[in-house]
Amino acid sequence: MTSHPAIEIRDLSKKFSKKPDLVQKLVGLCGVNTTPPTVHAVSNISLSIQKGEVLGLVGESGCGKSTLGRMVAGLIRPSEGSIHYQQHDISTLRGKALLDYTLGVQMIFQDPQASLNPKQQLHQILGEALKVHKLATPDQIPDRVDAALAEVGLDKEYRNRYPYQISGGQRQRIGIARALMVQPSFLVCDEPVAALDVSIQAQVINLFMDLRDQRNLTYLFISHDLGVVRHISDRVAIMYLGRIVEIAPTSEVFNHAAHPYTQALLAEMPDMSRQKRNFTPIKGELPSPLNPPSGCAFHPRCPHAMPRCREEAPVLRSLNSQHQAACHLLDA
Ligand SMILES: Nc1ncnc2c1ncn2[C@@H]1O[C@H](COP(=O)(O)OP(=O)(O)O)[C@@H](O)[C@H]1O
Ligand code: SF4
Ligand SMILES: [Mg+2]
Repeated sequence: MTSHPAIEIRDLSKKFSKKPDLVQKLVGLCGVNTTPPTVHAVSNISLSIQKGEVLGLVGESGCGKSTLGRMVAGLIRPSEGSIHYQQHDISTLRGKALLDYTLGVQMIFQDPQASLNPKQQLHQILGEALKVHKLATPDQIPDRVDAALAEVGLDKEYRNRYPYQISGGQRQRIGIARALMVQPSFLVCDEPVAALDVSIQAQVINLFMDLRDQRNLTYLFISHDLGVVRHISDRVAIMYLGRIVEIAPTSEVFNHAAHPYTQALLAEMPDMSRQKRNFTPIKGELPSPLNPPSGCAFHPRCPHAMPRCREEAPVLRSLNSQHQAACHLLDA
């Protein structure tokens, strides 16, 4: 029996046109032709996520992780390329098929405080999607809400509280419960523990792992921190300035990283045992996606950069059936 991927991303790109600032507007008023600068947030990404798999997506802030996640969740449209959910191009979905996708792929955000309506009690927050989509009758909703609270480890006493009356970890549990109310099969988790204390992070990651097993969920699990995705991911994709530079099974990434950027991330990984939590970026800053470096975008920071790296962009090549990386050093 062949199994199909839960999500397949083909040649996906997203460009944002920056709005002109005051100076650019004034220059434009003087009759000088100014084209608004374009941010290449995601460039030409192709990858598949198998059913039941957890794919970790890692890279520094600003490299395009959220943009990719938001496209997968259908919150923003790609500039180019396509996303296939259960083998259907999501841009072609209509009616029930569109609803199945919209409910089937849910997004969990970094900041549960911002994503929960402060004026609603938790039972209203959790029951809302059931009501809106008529997925349950009004008399079924209270039991469904209590079951969801229990599933994320919260007592049903919490149902009448407001978001400000619970802790950050509990708010993220509510964010997860809200996503689960509509029985999704796929979760885009965008830095879901980044705002939490280290001691709480592990508990919430454990909850994600339990839910994956119990509900046979598939995750795109985004983090700027390799340490966070290590225990939850089956595979890890490393992103740099809008592109995937390496993708491999988790153990392969940690033991046989092939790309100099992945190696640098590993070398500077926070030491969890010493509770050091701040991610130390490697030397230099992430270049602006408004004006990306020529050739390999990593060359200004790469200790192995060669003249060729300034001119020619490396393509992803297969090192074995499961491991791909994009670096000229890997040329045979
Ligand atoms: N709506 C938007 N308009 C303009 N630029 C954006 C928008 N969203 C993201 N960007 C830019 O796209 C790049 C990638 O951002 P993002 O996907 O949020 O990265 P990450 O999640 O990895 O921190 C950044 O340069 C960011 O400023
Ligand atoms: S292609 Fe060159 S600059 Fe880019 S990662 Fe490889 S060695 Fe470094
Ligand atoms: Mg982000």
